[in-house]
Amino acid sequence: MADWRRVAPVAEFPPGTRWLADLDGVGIVIFNLDGDYHAIEDVCSHDGGELASGRLEGCQIVCPRHGARFDIRTGAVAAPPAYEAIASLPTRIHEGWLEVRDDRWD
Ligand code: FES
Repeated sequence: MADWRRVAPVAEFPPGTRWLADLDGVGIVIFNLDGDYHAIEDVCSHDGGELASGRLEGCQIVCPRHGARFDIRTGAVAAPPAYEAIASLPTRIHEGWLEVRDDRWD
């Protein structure tokens, strides 16, 4: 099973913020959505665009390239032109740190 990886001290990650991180070469973005933490891979399933700079509307991230929408809680597609989900990664708080685990390859 993949190890949990520390991303940021929770105290530096207030609601409404987002963090970029690199997990062994995989870019991810983590959102603090009203105190709940959600991590997704920073790659749009439509044409590979980055998502981290996209507009967040509620629980949906809007891809800045062509406007596809994804639910940051699950990675599910919410609007085309994307039709495939993006990766959603588990998060946890441990000893005051936000941690993420990429267990897709376990
Ligand atoms: S790359 Fe994201 S909608 Fe096209």
